[in-house]
Amino acid sequence: MRVLVFSSHPHDEEYLTRANADHGHELVFVESRLRKSVAGLANGFDAICAFVNDDLSEPVLGALHQHGVRYIALRSAGFNHVDLDAARALGFTLARVPAYSPHSVAEHTVALILALNRKIYRSYNRVRDGNFALDGLMGFDLYERTVGIVGTGKIGERVAAALSGFGCKLLGYDPYPNPAAIDLGVEYVELDELFARSDVVTLHTPLTPDTFHVIDAEAVAAMKDGVMIINTSRGALVDTVAVIDGLKSGKVGYLGLDVYEEEEELFFENLSDRVITDDVFSRLLTFPNVMVTGHQAFFTQEAMTDIAETTMANLSAFERGEASGNEL
Ligand code: NAI
Repeated sequence: MRVLVFSSHPHDEEYLTRANADHGHELVFVESRLRKSVAGLANGFDAICAFVNDDLSEPVLGALHQHGVRYIALRSAGFNHVDLDAARALGFTLARVPAYSPHSVAEHTVALILALNRKIYRSYNRVRDGNFALDGLMGFDLYERTVGIVGTGKIGERVAAALSGFGCKLLGYDPYPNPAAIDLGVEYVELDELFARSDVVTLHTPLTPDTFHVIDAEAVAAMKDGVMIINTSRGALVDTVAVIDGLKSGKVGYLGLDVYEEEEELFFENLSDRVITDDVFSRLLTFPNVMVTGHQAFFTQEAMTDIAETTMANLSAFERGEASGNEL
């Protein structure tokens, strides 16, 4: 099958090419992010492979269809960037990677909690500058602190497992409680109770109309003073302006983000010699108690291997006219 791989970076090419050895697809890699103006690149390809910030809205899907594309392999678990109704109406077959190392994102979540709490990002820079003063670096013991996990699926469960090792008290909110999380000591409560009782609130739900801005001004107001908020899930779960207001008032004591609601224009590229025009994002970077990583939580060798192997298996299933079980 001829496959055009959008948003391709050297690591994508390396892992997808290796996984393709057993499948024999013809993969062509382009760095460009998928959007309507570049959909024509897919002319003559059977399938495209897309990542989280590629645009799969109705106009782009329509353009891909006109150019003869019939299959879309998402190399992500999340599919909030796809207009599924339009894709189905056009007759596309789509598949995603529903599960890959949940440890990758869970461990990055814990890394953000620890780095923010113990201000590792600040002490690293200080020590390199010969400044060994401790002022402003005080953290707190995670032991017996309460962590609220919103969404206790595969990743949320692994976060619970890691934090139970630190002796944290664990609260969970999920419309479908996970028995494995209960075994790890997660106490399921309503969302407002989770906000009111948690020292750390960490988000692990998909982005849906129900979860859009689940952290808004009202949610922030319901939280403990000095709360730590962590989002390694999808940017639009958090109303960034509301959280900035919380940071300015001191209500929010720490913010750790791996995702940002307008990240499409920023993440996965080296913009170090350009002016960032997103004033909300720029404001976030001015706070001493905010840490942002650029959507790298999934980025481990194990997760990349899982993603590449499942993507190739999905493409092979398309080619054979069979279902992989990962269709949307
Ligand atoms: P999952 O499907 O195993 O778990 C999601 C959980 O969220 C489920 O238990 C579901 O019942 C729950 N949920 C659904 N609606 C909810 C609501 N309104 N409130 C609370 N909980 C709700 O998914 P998994 O693998 O744990 O991934 C979670 C999310 O992590 C993904 O949807 C994706 O957005 C994000 N992610 C981020 C990555 C990164 O690199 N930063 C990489 C991979 C995933």
